[in-house]
Amino acid sequence: MIKAVAALLLAGVSLVLCGRAFEPGAPVKLYANKVGPFSNPSETYQYYDLPFCRPEGGLEHKPETLGEVVDGNRLIMTPYDLSFRKDKADAKLCTKTLTKSEVMQFRKAVSDDFYFQMYYDNLPIWGFIGKLEKEVSASGGESKLKHYVFTHVHYDIAYNGNRIVEINVSTDPAQMLDVSEDVVTGDVPVEATFTYSVQWRETDIPYEKRMDKYRRYQFLPQHLEIHWFSIINSCVTVLLLTGFLATILMRVLKNDFIKYTRDDDVLDETEESGWKNIHGEVFRFPPSKNLFCAFVGSGFQLLALSIFIFGLACVGVFYPYNRGGLYTALIVLYALTAGIAGYVAGSYYKQMDGRAWVRNILLTSVTFCGPLFVVFCINNTVAISYRSTAALPFGTIVIILLIWALITIPLTIAGGIVGKNTRTEFKATCRTNKYPREIPELPWYRHAVPQMIMAGFLPFSAIYIELYYIFASMWGHKVYTIYSILFIVFIILLIVTAFITVALTYFQLAVEDHRWWWRSFLCGGSTGFFIYGYCLYYYFFRSDMSGTMQSAFFFLYNGTVCLAFFLMLGTVGWRSSLSFVRHIYSAIKSD
Ligand SMILES: *[C@@H]1O[C@H](CO)[C@@H](O)[C@H](O)[C@H]1NC(C)=O
Repeated sequence: MIKAVAALLLAGVSLVLCGRAFEPGAPVKLYANKVGPFSNPSETYQYYDLPFCRPEGGLEHKPETLGEVVDGNRLIMTPYDLSFRKDKADAKLCTKTLTKSEVMQFRKAVSDDFYFQMYYDNLPIWGFIGKLEKEVSASGGESKLKHYVFTHVHYDIAYNGNRIVEINVSTDPAQMLDVSEDVVTGDVPVEATFTYSVQWRETDIPYEKRMDKYRRYQFLPQHLEIHWFSIINSCVTVLLLTGFLATILMRVLKNDFIKYTRDDDVLDETEESGWKNIHGEVFRFPPSKNLFCAFVGSGFQLLALSIFIFGLACVGVFYPYNRGGLYTALIVLYALTAGIAGYVAGSYYKQMDGRAWVRNILLTSVTFCGPLFVVFCINNTVAISYRSTAALPFGTIVIILLIWALITIPLTIAGGIVGKNTRTEFKATCRTNKYPREIPELPWYRHAVPQMIMAGFLPFSAIYIELYYIFASMWGHKVYTIYSILFIVFIILLIVTAFITVALTYFQLAVEDHRWWWRSFLCGGSTGFFIYGYCLYYYFFRSDMSGTMQSAFFFLYNGTVCLAFFLMLGTVGWRSSLSFVRHIYSAIKSD
C-alpha cells in the first residue's frame, strides 16, 4: 500500500519535472473535456451529449482532482489517433447515420454557439463545433439561418525531442455538414463522415515553457498598457484622496485634543459637544454580540484565506486555464483556516463577557458556510435539471461534506475553545457608564444606509477597473495572469477601507452617536454591496450570458463572493476603528 502510494507520488513528481517522453509512434490519448455555449461559461455538458464519434470498445474516463470536478471538467477519451510524430493527411474517424433527433441536437448546439474543449498531454485546446450563417436567398429578400457542423478537424502539433510542446486545433470551413432546417426535413436520416488530419513539426521551444503560451496576456496587446495605466491612475487618485482626508482628520483631531485639555481649566460644559462627552459609552459592547463576534471571526478567516491564495498565486501555482487548482486550494485552505475563525470569534466573545459560547461556535461555523451551502444546493439542482457537468457527482459532494465535517468543524471548535480560554481582558481605555446615554436626533445622512453608501464609494472606485478583468476571466474566456496588480489593488482596498471607516467613525462619535460597533462593520463591508451592483452591470451590459442556469450561477455564487467581501472588509473596518477609538480616548484625560 505505502509502496504503491510512494510509486504514484514519484511518478507524479517526475511527470511534473520532466514531462512525459514518447517514442515515435507511441499512442498519446486525446481527452475531450466539455462542450457548451460560448457565452455561458458555467453551462457545460459532456462531450458525448452531442452525437460525436465514440471510440470502439467503451468510454474511458480520466481521473481528476477535486478542484477539476468542481470546475465541471469531465475528461473522456476520444477516438482520434494522435500517435507521437505520426502525420495523417485525411484520416477517417467514423461514418454515422444521424437520426432526426441527433440532427436537432447538432442544430441546437450550433445555434447556441457551442465550443468544445479537449486535453492532449495536459495541454488544453478549444474549437467551435460549427457555425451559423445568415443566407440571403437570390429570389426574395428573405434571409434564412444556415446551421453547419464542422466534420473535419486539423491538429498542428509541435514537439521538442521526445516531448510534446504545443498543439493547435483548427476546423476546415470547406468540410461542413449542413444541418439547417430547410435541408434536413422529414425523417430522412443524414449520412455524416467525420475526418481529421495531423501535422507534426519540430520546435525549439523548451518543454518547460510550453504553458507560457496560455499565460500570455489575453486581451489585445495594447490593453496591457491601458490596464497598467488605469490601475496606477486609480490607485494614485484614491491614495491622494485618502491622504488628503487623513491630513484633515489629523488636524481636526489635534484641535480637539488642544480644546479638550484646555477645557479642563475653563470648564464650560454647557456649550460643549463632541466625542469626548461619550467616553463612558463608546466601550459599551454592541447588541447581538454573539453574531457580531461570529462575523468578525469569519472575516479574519477570509482575510487569512485571501492572503494565502495571493501567496500561492504569486509563486505561480495556478496555471491559467486550470481553475481546478484554484478551487482545490480554496476548499483545502478554507478548511484549514477554520481555526482562525473559531479562535477570533471565541476570544472576542469572551472579552465581551459572552456566555453562550457553544452558540457562538455554531454561529461562526455557519456564517459563511451556511449561505454558501444553500446557494450550492440551489445551483446544483438547477445544474442537474440541465444535465450539465457543473452538477457535482454524489461522490464529490460527499468528499466536500467530509472535509467540512472532519476538518472545518473540529478546527472551528478547537479554535473557539482556545479563544475562550485565553485570559485576555478587553482593553477599554475608559470606564463604561451604567446606563446608556441618549443619542441626539440626527439628520438623515447620519443614518446607517447613507453612511454605508459614502463608505463604499472610495474603496469601490479603487477596484472597479480590476473587477472588469476578474469578471472577464471568471465569467468569460479570458485569462487573468497578472496577480501582482491584483495584489497591489487588494492591499490598497484594505488600506482605503480601514481609513474611510475610521473617518466615518470619527464623524459619528463627534455628533455623540456612540453606536459605532455595528456601524463601522457595515460601513467597512459596504464595498461588498457595491461589488454586487457591479455584477448587475456586468451581466446586463458587458456580457452575453443568458438562460436560467447561467443566471443562477452568476447571481448566486457572486452573492456569496460579495458576502465574503462584506465579512472581510467589515472586519477590517471595525478592527481599525477599534484601534482608533482606543487611541483617541486614551489621549484625553478622562477623569
Ligand atoms: C499555433 O498557432 C500559433 C498562433 O497562430 C502559431 O504561432 C504556432 O506556431 C502554432 N503552432 C503549431 C504547432 O502549429
